[in-house]
Amino acid sequence: MAEGTLAASSAKRSLSSVVGFARAVLPAVRYLDFAVRWFGRVRYDLASSGLEPISASELGAATVDDPSARERLVAAVARRYGVPEVEIVPTLGTSGALFTAYATLLGQNGALLVERPGYEPLLRVAEWLGARVDEFQREGGLLDPERVLTALRADTRLVAITNPHNPTATLLEEQSISELSGLLEARGVTLLVDEAYLESVAPRRSARRLGANVVSCASATKAWGVPWARAGWLFMPERTARDAIRAERHSVGTAPPACFSFGELAVTNADRLLKRAARIQDGKRELVERFAARHADRLSFTAPPPGSLFGWFEDIRGRRLTPLIEHGIERFGVIVSPGEFFGEPSGCRVSWTTNRAALERGLELLREALEL
Ligand SMILES: Cc1ncc(COP(=O)(O)O)c(C=O)c1O
Repeated sequence: MAEGTLAASSAKRSLSSVVGFARAVLPAVRYLDFAVRWFGRVRYDLASSGLEPISASELGAATVDDPSARERLVAAVARRYGVPEVEIVPTLGTSGALFTAYATLLGQNGALLVERPGYEPLLRVAEWLGARVDEFQREGGLLDPERVLTALRADTRLVAITNPHNPTATLLEEQSISELSGLLEARGVTLLVDEAYLESVAPRRSARRLGANVVSCASATKAWGVPWARAGWLFMPERTARDAIRAERHSVGTAPPACFSFGELAVTNADRLLKRAARIQDGKRELVERFAARHADRLSFTAPPPGSLFGWFEDIRGRRLTPLIEHGIERFGVIVSPGEFFGEPSGCRVSWTTNRAALERGLELLREALEL
């Protein structure tokens, strides 16, 4: 990739407000274009945020053509998270859940308030649906409810956050989510919590139980290493869940039962998959912490909660890291996720999902790439 290409094509996002385009225009999701292009193809991959995938045969036998797979997945998810079945909408990954939540909750004229730095699809999908998107800042990953309230406008219908936060991996405690949801409920606003990584750090938890106005979503993708199943779920009040089920008709018609079948297998084997994760991840985070300590004069490191698969670095001098990261891909064969895609050009997300030897070498090469 030519140096600077990424920069030139990078989305321009204003901090206060990003005005949505007409519904007919599909905005590019730069981060996902980058991920599809590079993740898994660069020798030292410190960018992929999901656990090393388990093979289908190792996961176990599942039917691919049984239409009852959907109900089986719903029942398994209900058992694991203690959420009533009528509040569960099965989706194709957390991505499918985000689309479904927005399509259901934003309505004709609803606006979205989303965190920054943030996972780009969280704002692009809403833009595409024609919503105005405003942003609030999460300083160092922390969520200040005052900042959320200040950024609300009269037409804000929905506030979207990730927990743990992507990219900083900061975990909000249930108390903080309850407080925020209470403040939003008083203003008639729904809180959407994307919990794609929550099982890695707080298994069996979901924010759905923390407030009547809280909806949440997750999938088998990241923490359990089952990305290929594309099995996800959205938790919402029964009334809206009934509407949300229609989103499947509008998007994919009928989701493949194989996805839900493997999804059910993943959910019922979740504790075994988390043990596998602990085994695979053992000792890797320490390598990154050592790297962080060694370069503390150049990079700040946001310490993630135990179990996290990634962490967040920021350049202390405020350099824009994207060109250096691009150079690292081409010259050294090492990749990390540029913070620019998350709205923070002086940051980068480093994951430790690759094998130990590759991580060790990758960190050495990263030092060179970032000119530390
Ligand atoms: C915060 C967040 N939500 C959703 C997704 C997409 O998850 P899935 O692959 O299950 O669609 C990702 C993937 O990177 C993510 O980081």
